[in-house]
Amino acid sequence: MADTQKVRRHEVTTDGPLRVDATLAFIGHIETPWARREDCPRQGNRDTGPECTIVVDDPWIAALTGIEAYPSLDILYWLHLSRRDLILQNPNHGDSARGTFSLRSPIRPNPIGLSTVRLIRRDGNRVTVRGLECVSGTPLIDIKPDHCHFTPVV
Ligand SMILES: C[S@@+](CC[C@H](N)C(=O)[O-])C[C@H]1O[C@@H](n2cnc3c(N)ncnc32)[C@H](O)[C@@H]1O
Repeated sequence: MADTQKVRRHEVTTDGPLRVDATLAFIGHIETPWARREDCPRQGNRDTGPECTIVVDDPWIAALTGIEAYPSLDILYWLHLSRRDLILQNPNHGDSARGTFSLRSPIRPNPIGLSTVRLIRRDGNRVTVRGLECVSGTPLIDIKPDHCHFTPVV
């Protein structure tokens, strides 16, 4: 589980409790080829990465209406296996540490993952994409059209 991740040399944690300001509602989950964190790539590749499936739950399936117009999507998900208390991190096991907010590490106070993916197809509540790198079963927070890479196909 999250807190069993080891603290490395130069890393700094906080034992201050997280103030809870918001309640997230998971809207589905993500199916990928990777069962463990250590098997995942660090960042997904939207051209060469494997197909992964975003599974949207009721009542949000109809909220996918129109998504096919966007070949590129931003996917937000909850990195549920992450510890949340690292202020300084030593991601490369090197001789120094960097601030959490200067890294895309999954370890952060609010472990939200963001990936810009390529839409391959949609079959009902199942959206197939390339470009993810999370563990299979990772909870889904949101899906948004990516306006930076492509304009919609209308
Ligand atoms: C570096 S993060 C990048 C996530 C996202 N692309 C981003 O930039 O916000 C990806 C890594 O998080 C880890 N990871 C994947 N799924 C996770 C999960 N459900 N909980 C915690 N860590 C996870 C894996 O080690 C993976 O290589």
